[in-house]
Amino acid sequence: MIVDKSFIKLLSHSTERAAYGASLFLGKNDKIAADEGAVDEMRKVLNTIKMRGRIVIGEGEMDEAPMLYINEKVGLNTGPLLDIAVDPLEGTNFVAKNLPNALSVLAATNKGDLLNAPDMYMDKIVIGKNLPSNIIDLDFGVEKNIKLLAKAKNVKMNDLTVCLLKRPRHDDIVKSLTGLGVKIKFISDGDVSGAISVAYPEKKIDMYIGIGGAPEGVLAAAALKCLGCQMQTRLHFQNPSEKSRAIKFGIKDLNKKYNINDMVKGDVIFCATGVSNGDFVKGIKDNGNLFYSETLVLHYSSKTKDIYKNNTKK
Ligand code: FBP
Repeated sequence: MIVDKSFIKLLSHSTERAAYGASLFLGKNDKIAADEGAVDEMRKVLNTIKMRGRIVIGEGEMDEAPMLYINEKVGLNTGPLLDIAVDPLEGTNFVAKNLPNALSVLAATNKGDLLNAPDMYMDKIVIGKNLPSNIIDLDFGVEKNIKLLAKAKNVKMNDLTVCLLKRPRHDDIVKSLTGLGVKIKFISDGDVSGAISVAYPEKKIDMYIGIGGAPEGVLAAAALKCLGCQMQTRLHFQNPSEKSRAIKFGIKDLNKKYNINDMVKGDVIFCATGVSNGDFVKGIKDNGNLFYSETLVLHYSSKTKDIYKNNTKK
């Protein structure tokens, strides 16, 4: 990807401003307004950047009339041809209820390099870095994956911690984990953050597992690629119409298991700005005429792993 530090900085401004836009609705019990606040700000910034960007993962489809819709062109129509995945507000509930861990997230690749994941569920399993390749597999089931991970890490199964969304659909997974003596860290929302947590040993999360949004899965894959982790996913259909939708999105093999490089092919830039204080970055702080923001910035080819801390004019 022919981009430099200044270009990455420009992209990171889009999540900074989106996070600021969402932060104005912290605790206001209005998920939709918070999301709109983030989308408006992100779109404005994206349209000032010299790039020929196309939203491949966005807020919905054009006929639903959202902004940052799938296939929307963004940028000044000159410069690199990019595919862009956005989640201007990841954790709408967190903002509505003034809870930690809300993020504004974006990933960008060369044109054609991002999986066009439809807005539906996805099965996900994620492990950290420095582990043998391909040791986990969605088809192995919980017990085998846990045994293999414990063996690879040379620890006992009951030394492992697994993170997952607290949802009734995960009851069987929880039962298996509990039976094996594995520790569980439940999250109420925000599985981009949950998935990325395996990359940071100090978080003490050995595996992320379960069903969450497919767009969030691709965004997490972008970060995990830069962080050297492993992830496998598969679309999880709830009804036949979701299958037709996936076909419409160009997905040929509906049962395909995706590894990171299937979801994010070449180089990738990932930016995530905190809206509220979170596991990786602090949230937006109002400093009068300025707002303070922290953004996790990752770039695969330049091995950038940074936290940008900025004071920006409101
Ligand atoms: P929103 O920010 O769009 O509300 O998504 C939050 C989230 O928790 C995602 O992180 C996750 O992938 C998805 O919702 C899980 O969906 P559900 O709440 O239907 O289980």
